[in-house]
Amino acid sequence: MMQKSEIIITCAKGIPPFLREEILSLGFPVLSEGGSSVETEGTLEDTMKLNLHIRTGQRVLFLLTEFHARNPDELHQRISEIPWENYISEDGYFCVTSTVDTPTIKDSRYANVKCKDAMVDRFNEKFGRRPDSGPERSHAVVHLHWQGRGCRIFLDTSGEPLSRRGYRKIPLKAPMQETLAAATVLATGWQGNGNFINPMCGSGTLAIEAAMIGLSRAPGLLRGNFGFMHLKGFNEASWGILRKRARAEAKKSMDVKIIATDIIPSAVQAARQNAATAGVEHVIDFHVCNFSDTPVPEGEGVMILNPPYGERLGEMKELEETYRGVGDFFKKRGKGYKGYVFTGNFNLSKRIGLRTKRRVPFFNGDIECRLLEYDLYEGSRKHSSPHTMGG
Ligand SMILES: C[S@@+](CC[C@H](N)C(=O)[O-])C[C@H]1O[C@@H](n2cnc3c(N)ncnc32)[C@H](O)[C@@H]1O
Repeated sequence: MMQKSEIIITCAKGIPPFLREEILSLGFPVLSEGGSSVETEGTLEDTMKLNLHIRTGQRVLFLLTEFHARNPDELHQRISEIPWENYISEDGYFCVTSTVDTPTIKDSRYANVKCKDAMVDRFNEKFGRRPDSGPERSHAVVHLHWQGRGCRIFLDTSGEPLSRRGYRKIPLKAPMQETLAAATVLATGWQGNGNFINPMCGSGTLAIEAAMIGLSRAPGLLRGNFGFMHLKGFNEASWGILRKRARAEAKKSMDVKIIATDIIPSAVQAARQNAATAGVEHVIDFHVCNFSDTPVPEGEGVMILNPPYGERLGEMKELEETYRGVGDFFKKRGKGYKGYVFTGNFNLSKRIGLRTKRRVPFFNGDIECRLLEYDLYEGSRKHSSPHTMGG
């Protein structure tokens, strides 16, 4: 379909300001910004470019049509009028997802079934055959947004959410979502300028996203499957050209260092493996060590830690020490760098004992988090905090 329509890119709360910049820098307009989405416009073919390059968004939704429906029967009627055979093959497979907030429906799964039935009825009537359907998002995906009476029907051109880059084969405890890690790196302003030091790297998500940003590598190059590939008229040749161009734009190496460390050997091993899968292992130095022993090259750049937030009370005492130690690490080793801590525990973050220069709100799932920024120059120490650093 070559005509333009609205394209809504969904994301986690807190991310729209970063997603917005990405959309603009790809040459698309920003029509509006919501709490967890940014709206742009383009053709169905344009969604390929967005899916290939966007780092911070989750789903690229292409608006097919909108109408009013007061109840499930009206929904069925209107959905069966859409020429689905133009988008989905009768031998294919599709999945329906929805966000529903309308008085006549309590369970959004019921809306999914209604939508699916209406599509299937149309296929059966026209062709005596119908595509399969189910919960798998690995083929065509249709998204229904029903609020009050307003229904909007989208093609979800991403299919699986974009956070599933495909490199995290070995997940660990409390990993950051890839899209959130990318937004966090973008929030630091790091783009390959200066070193990127990531102690407590866990499964390596921050370091890997930084590497892909520093190398200008399109995150979508890692994925072989997107929703748009399963729509009729998918232009494989154009997709090939987009990929080729993206590969040509990517750098092979960087002048600066990315250093990722963790105290748990299996975490470092997983991070290294994930980086290898992402094709960026060669630009990251990995070490097993306590965060405070992380090698920090002289110069400038970003130091970023995502320490545990702690859930059980017993852990808190220990974590207070850890966070205090992070403050000491910044003070002792961070000259010339900008320091960042990403955490969901604001009591613990006070233990860092440095003046916060900036706080960026994010959400890790349902947990409200902050990216805290510290300027690590002499004199950034809080006057109230005791000077008990020792040697
Ligand atoms: C919240 S996780 C980091 C998750 C990471 N951002 C990711 O996406 O996978 C915290 C990490 O800090 C590490 N850690 C905890 N205490 C540490 C210490 N004293 N020195 C180094 N690493 C530590 C843990 O092993 C864990 O991998």
